[in-house]
Amino acid sequence: MTTHGGRAELAGWRSSVAGTVALVPTMGALHDGHRRLIARAKQIADAVAVSVFVNPLQFGPDEDFDRYPRDLEADLEICRADEVDFVFTPELAEMYPREPEVTVSAGRMGTVFEGAARPGHFDGVLTVVTKLFRLVRPDVAVFGQKDAQQLALVERLTADLDLGVTIDAVPIVRDADGLALSSRNRYLSDDERRIALALPAAIEAARAAATPEEAQDAARRALAGAQRRHPEFSVGYATLVERATFIECPPGFRGDAVLVLAARVGATRLIDNAPLTF
Ligand code: PAF
Repeated sequence: MTTHGGRAELAGWRSSVAGTVALVPTMGALHDGHRRLIARAKQIADAVAVSVFVNPLQFGPDEDFDRYPRDLEADLEICRADEVDFVFTPELAEMYPREPEVTVSAGRMGTVFEGAARPGHFDGVLTVVTKLFRLVRPDVAVFGQKDAQQLALVERLTADLDLGVTIDAVPIVRDADGLALSSRNRYLSDDERRIALALPAAIEAARAAATPEEAQDAARRALAGAQRRHPEFSVGYATLVERATFIECPPGFRGDAVLVLAARVGATRLIDNAPLTF
C-alpha cells in the first residue's frame, strides 16, 4: 500500500521498514521516465520511497520555480499504480524552515555547462539531495542519465562526503519521435516540439562518427543547421566531455565520454546527452 506525507510520516514509515530501501528523488510532474526509475528501484530494493519536492534552491531568480508543473494527485496516482511504498511530499517550510546558511558546494563541476547557464543550480541540487538522503536514509538512490551532469555530481557528492548511498543510473527514456522525456516538454507547442527534435538528431549524427573530434563536430553542425532554419532555436552548448569529470575531452581522447547538449526552443530550455565510449 502506498502511503505519503511529510517528515513525521516519513520517520514513522522508515522505522517500520525492514530490508533495503531505494529512494527515487523527483520534483513531481511524474512521467514515463520517472516510472522507469521507480521500476528500477523496485528491482534492486525491498522498499521504495519517492520524494516529490520542487526545490527552490536549484532555481535561479528568472527561472520557472513558480510555474514548474505541480500535480500531486496525479503523481500519487502514478505512485500507487507502480506500488511505491512511501511518497515523501514535504511542505516547503518542512524542508527549509528558514533560509539555509550552510549549503553544499558543487565545486568546479558545478560551474560548467548547466552550472554556467544556471549559476548556483547544482549547489541547490546537492543541498537538497543531501537532506533527502539524511531524511530517507536510503541504501540506494536511483537517478536518470537524462541529467548527466547532475548524475556525475551526485556520484561525487556521495563519494567525497562518504554519504554511504549507492547511486544507480537509468538510461534516458525517449518518446517515439526521439525526444528525451522531461517534465518541461509540456511547455512546448507542437511546432516547438518538432524543432526540438534537432537534439536527438544531433546525437544520431554524433553516434555515426568514428572519433571524439568527429562526433562533437557532427553534433555541432546538426544543431547549427537547426539554428539557421528556426529562429526560435538557439544552441546553448554541444560538447564532448569526460563522463566522470565533465572536463572537455582532449584531442585523441580514449575512454568514457558523454556528449552534452543544451538548446533553447522558444522560451523552453532543453538538455539532452549521449554516453559515448571511444
Ligand atoms: O532531478 C531532479 O528532479 C531534481 O534535480 C532532484 C534530484 C529531485 C533534486 O531536486
